[in-house]
Amino acid sequence: MVRPRLLVVSMSLPVTAKRTGEETWSFTMSPGGLVSALLGLKEFETKWIGWPGVDVHDAVGKKALSIALAEKGCIPVFLEEVCDQYYNGYCNNILWPIFHYLGTPPEYRNDVIITYQSQYDAYKKANRIFFDVVNEHYQEGDVVWCHDYHVMLLPQYLKEYNSKMKVGWFLHTPFPSSEMYKTLPSRSELLRSVLTADLVGFHTYDFARHFVNACMCILGTEATSEGVVDQGKLTRVAVFPIGIEPERFINTSKLSEVTEYMKKFKSDFGGRKLILGVDRLDTIKGIPHKYQAFEKFLEENEDWRGKVLLLQIAVPTRNGIGEYQKIKDQCHGLVGRINGRFGSISSVPIIHLDCSIHFHQLCALYAITDVLLVTSLRDGMNLVSSEFVACQKGEKGVLVLSEFAGAGQSLGAGALLVNPWNVKEVSNAIGEALSMSREEKEKKHQINFQYVKTHSTQQWADDFMNKLNEVTSKAEQETGK
Ligand code: G6P
Repeated sequence: MVRPRLLVVSMSLPVTAKRTGEETWSFTMSPGGLVSALLGLKEFETKWIGWPGVDVHDAVGKKALSIALAEKGCIPVFLEEVCDQYYNGYCNNILWPIFHYLGTPPEYRNDVIITYQSQYDAYKKANRIFFDVVNEHYQEGDVVWCHDYHVMLLPQYLKEYNSKMKVGWFLHTPFPSSEMYKTLPSRSELLRSVLTADLVGFHTYDFARHFVNACMCILGTEATSEGVVDQGKLTRVAVFPIGIEPERFINTSKLSEVTEYMKKFKSDFGGRKLILGVDRLDTIKGIPHKYQAFEKFLEENEDWRGKVLLLQIAVPTRNGIGEYQKIKDQCHGLVGRINGRFGSISSVPIIHLDCSIHFHQLCALYAITDVLLVTSLRDGMNLVSSEFVACQKGEKGVLVLSEFAGAGQSLGAGALLVNPWNVKEVSNAIGEALSMSREEKEKKHQINFQYVKTHSTQQWADDFMNKLNEVTSKAEQETGK
């Protein structure tokens, strides 16, 4: 296959910049599944266009940052004064909660006009800024691949300007049922714009189905087996479940440094069984639900007290939003309560860390984990589950996975699926996982390992690009170009 050059557009670049001097910058990897997955796109020539995670107001700083990012194949989008209203506002306080079935945040309910309108204006402006940057760097033959809910207006801006541009749009979050989506005041504009893309992709069949239904209910479009027909024009809608770059995890787990960490952590944990959680500290991840389920487990299983540790890596995210500060306090409160109830002088049952950890440490933790506990209330995919599977060696650990994560549809067969809202059910699943026989664990692991190995990010991107190519070639033939 001849691979076109890809202009990947997403809100966040894979690296977050920090200024260290007038013309100097340092970088850390940005959090989130989207970034970690797209970093696995090795076979394409890719330019990544996105926000560098920081506002830069002076020309000297912008120039220096653009040069430093160019070396990493990245192109910055400077959002300046619209950033707060766009990112913290419309994207993460309106679209994100609606797409994850949390509904409109309470503080917005009585202030609909001001917040919706001003934040939507910022969203439009920001999408225009993304458009300008894409346009500046676009070369004929490139494919523009727009990612996520931050850039839903971008396909339309691009197509209106140049109808020959090949444009794909992919959503990494759930697309909610039309009953939930319908509450968005800007529901029609966003759908119409997405429908201008040549191909629209989702992680699961349900998300695609919800999208098609929303188009039917709101725009009056028709649905076909291929996608959505709006005013005679067909937009292809398809399902492409994303994966990870398995070799990166498999090979890293074999490094001697990782083996050393494994030994060290095992000794630090004093022979206790390890339940691991790795999540951005996000309201959708169900971390308080996880803690309450673990509390129930300790309450009901006296024999396990002192013999099991829950280690939660809670990676900070979206600190500018009140709900994210609240959830942090809530988690700290629960951890304090549970450790107070079930801890002893020498050990506590929960370790909660407000930080990310080094990649080698993460692989070591995955490798020694007895139970990976994923209790997302809603999640587009949840690649942590796949990362865990890829790092397993020796006696395997068990994946306890929320049925509300996209991953539930691909890794469900080798996992214990749970409803995170049912504390008793999760508590029982913890018990079942901790006491599962070695053979059963191996059997479940093999099912998931085969899936993770064969459904890589590269495969996902190739599938999307092949389909996009097929769709656009067909359209060119039909118009005789
Ligand atoms: C989710 C979204 C991504 C986002 C990531 C991290 O996975 O789908 O688009 O990049 O969360 O969120 P943040 O707001 O910290 O970039």
